Amino acid sequence: MKTRELRQKFLDFFEKKGHKIVPSSSLIPKDPSVLLTSAGMQQFKEYFLGEPSPYGKKVASSQKCFRTSDIEEVGDVSHLTFLEMLGNFSFGNYFKEEAIKLAYEFLFKKLKLPLKEARFTVFGGDKEVPLDEESILIWKKLGIPEEKIKKCGREDNFWGPTGVEGPCGPTTEIHFGGVEVWNIVFNEYYCDSKKKLKPLKQKGVDTGMGLERLAMVSQEKTSVFEIDLFEPIIKEIEKSSAKIYDKNSKDYRIIADHIRGAVFLISEGIFPSNVERGYVLRKILRRTIRSRRLLELQTNFLFSLAGKVIETYKDIYPELSSRQADILTVIQKEEEKFRRAIEQGIKEWKILSKILSKAGRGYITGKEAFSLYETHSISLESIEELAKESGIKIKDKEGFKKAFKKHQEVSRAGAEKKFGGLGKGATLKAVKLHTATHLLHQALREVLGDDVKQMGSDINPQRLRFDFSHHQKMTEAEIKKVEDSVNEKIKKDLAVKKEEMPYEKALKSKALAFFKEKYPEKVTVYSIGGFSKEICAGPHVKKTSELGRFKIIKEESSGAGVRRIRAILE
Ligand code: GLY
Repeated sequence: MKTRELRQKFLDFFEKKGHKIVPSSSLIPKDPSVLLTSAGMQQFKEYFLGEPSPYGKKVASSQKCFRTSDIEEVGDVSHLTFLEMLGNFSFGNYFKEEAIKLAYEFLFKKLKLPLKEARFTVFGGDKEVPLDEESILIWKKLGIPEEKIKKCGREDNFWGPTGVEGPCGPTTEIHFGGVEVWNIVFNEYYCDSKKKLKPLKQKGVDTGMGLERLAMVSQEKTSVFEIDLFEPIIKEIEKSSAKIYDKNSKDYRIIADHIRGAVFLISEGIFPSNVERGYVLRKILRRTIRSRRLLELQTNFLFSLAGKVIETYKDIYPELSSRQADILTVIQKEEEKFRRAIEQGIKEWKILSKILSKAGRGYITGKEAFSLYETHSISLESIEELAKESGIKIKDKEGFKKAFKKHQEVSRAGAEKKFGGLGKGATLKAVKLHTATHLLHQALREVLGDDVKQMGSDINPQRLRFDFSHHQKMTEAEIKKVEDSVNEKIKKDLAVKKEEMPYEKALKSKALAFFKEKYPEKVTVYSIGGFSKEICAGPHVKKTSELGRFKIIKEESSGAGVRRIRAILE
């Protein structure tokens, strides 16, 4: 059965069983403590906690997911970064018996998958959570012999929470050929930010079944990369590479997986950068480019392959068509940027290795390797390859790792400083520019669309600087529109209101927040009239008329997919 039929069969099956079918949510989750959506339950998190669900108590979906934790695993038979997750969910409705029976009916009656080959796991119990005897009994009642039901620990059979806190619970899983295909989670606990488990007010069910893995079993393939969805992509690589799939399957698979992941990430308005989601995108694109080189494929190959991915998915995910131009340009630009970085890095490497051989030194230190990484974004992997080619060793990789950790800490501290408000010494001019920054942020979203996300902000008493995600140079007309919109708000003399509220409430009220910033439980929200609302430490002016005239003095690029505006108040 084709993958698209499987997806539809799953949704039809659960619809007939009284579930409301809910469309996939974005890959960018509402929960700012989570980088990317990695499970179907994320968009339903609060309904597990007892908030009334607008969809009713039983829902099902096919959710776009991206699992950064699996990037390094890609290349084996079953791991993917981007995947579609089929799931059925109960918010205080059915529990273990019905969830297991539904899974059994769908897999073995509806799809007629080979029951003989299936294996099952349940939670084996530990100090905090007891053995899941009930699930064992239910499987046995369905005719599964006890020797096919394995008891496992926390690592394997306990799921959640996503983010810093949330619902979680023991699981029962269905495996085929050693690959986990369906994970059924019994949400009975709330895990708080200190990792303490408390019973939930209502019990729920959250299941996750990777569509590609299901297709692999249903189509009797040995890896997810051989299913119908990937076939055209693998074939396309085969056509253009002199190296065959069999021996080079890892690089084939990396390209196939990562190009698909990259297409979906870019379609969500994510652009390559050195932080957060942009960094994930840059990382998978660079790994793709590396594999492309190893398979001796042309530079423009990835570009055309991305077109094939869009072709395959565009009827199910229309956002791919509407952002096609962006997707292709980003991939092309990143490849170009990477090529330049590598060339520069190789040049530098040559100089370095000459110096080393003159000095009679056959190694570089981890710190030196890190400096190559820092200035030219050449990964440790690539440095290792260059080193091998020229017979030079990297002496202490630990040194590299240490330097890398320090670098991350420094960037994190920098980000906190930037986002953490202006501090005590702020001059009145800087305070005004800060309020103007909020107006600018919202005006940009109005004129260019909600994809505009703040990437950075810097204020000094002379000017404001604002970096945001946007893929094109702004036109004169757009700049004027933004400027006019800000000046109109200034003229209207809108009141700037400061409120304290729980963080969750702030998010619900659609206040803009910075991704991954660690917010305290109570946050300050600044709103300007009905126009702008942001979680922010302040300070701000009381009324917009205090600002004077707002003027954009420069709009320029600040990295791939990021624009920078400098503006002043006259
Ligand atoms: N939420 C269950 C899973 O993704 O496996």
